[in-house]
Amino acid sequence: MQELQTILEEALESFAAVEDAAELENIKARYLGKDGSLTALLKGLGKLSAEERPAAGARINEVKQQIEAALQAQRDAIQLHALNARLAAESLDVTLPGRGLGVGGLHPVTRTLERIENLFHSIGYDVAEGPEIENDFYNFTALNIPEDHPARAMHDTFYIDEQHVLRTHTSPIQIRYMQAHMEKYKHLATMPDIRIIAPGRVYRVDSDATHSPMFHQVEGLWVGEKVSFADLKGVIADFLQNYFETEDMQVRFRPSFFPFTEPSAEMDMSWKGGWLEIGGCGMVHPNVLKHVGIDSEKYIGFAFGMGVERLAMLRYSVNDLRLFFENDLQFLKQFN
Ligand code: FA5
Ligand code: MG
Repeated sequence: MQELQTILEEALESFAAVEDAAELENIKARYLGKDGSLTALLKGLGKLSAEERPAAGARINEVKQQIEAALQAQRDAIQLHALNARLAAESLDVTLPGRGLGVGGLHPVTRTLERIENLFHSIGYDVAEGPEIENDFYNFTALNIPEDHPARAMHDTFYIDEQHVLRTHTSPIQIRYMQAHMEKYKHLATMPDIRIIAPGRVYRVDSDATHSPMFHQVEGLWVGEKVSFADLKGVIADFLQNYFETEDMQVRFRPSFFPFTEPSAEMDMSWKGGWLEIGGCGMVHPNVLKHVGIDSEKYIGFAFGMGVERLAMLRYSVNDLRLFFENDLQFLKQFN
């Protein structure tokens, strides 16, 4: 049985030298496989005499168990080694700051718009919308600004083509809303009051610390049988008090001109030792009511249009309006 001892030593030695799991299983076959050397010895038992057979069989089995134990030990060692290698390669530095999910926030202009909408909603105003590409009729003509009228020069307009412009103000929404309102209630002897605000983007060829080529306005409109300039002042004053959360504000109404209101005024608020214009307003011009088929003898109303970025600048003490559109996160994060 010298041969058996050689097989055992050789097996233990070759198992110990292997580092790869698949390779180990190949080597195993040399000893324990169908044609393996140990298997051959077991098959050879039949040639021995009946007296020799039990001792030889027991001896072979003992070696077989030793080989199997060594095989399993090497399998475990290879597995452990692979696990350690993986742990080392995938090591985590738990002292690194977490990556986290960046939390988004609302843009200060959006927050301002929401605030304005909520305040007007609370006093019974509906919110209306209109297209940003307007035709000449809604942006100008219906608002009593006929072609070749010098008042067109008050707005530095972006033209799409001869008939279409990027709306220069939210006032065209007044016209669209009044037309739809008249159509809806034409069967009634007296139409219900119109009371809306209309927020949106508007565009002008304009850019400096208080002007941007794209900005937001909120239009307001109240038309009914008994609406006065005093109501206009009351609504605006009330709104500004709530918006700025103080009764102690420096606001002034300055007589002005708009083709679509008469009389007209502009509203300014104190800013950096001077005044910052926040909006225009006035009593809706009878010609505008006529353009939408509203009887200007029976109905009267007021309208206003305020600059949303200007209101945001004043509320948040921002001194350059263009900051709102530079998308600098350091600036924007301060509002959330
Ligand atoms: C108008 O646009 C009128 N449609 C407002 C109005 C509505 C008057 C209804 C009467 C009745 P004005 O051009 O002044 O008016 O603009 C209104 C406000 O928009 C200004 O007071 C200012 O706050 C803001 N604004 C005007 N141009 C810019 C600009 N380029 N960038 C930022 N805000 C602006
Ligand atoms: Mg103005």
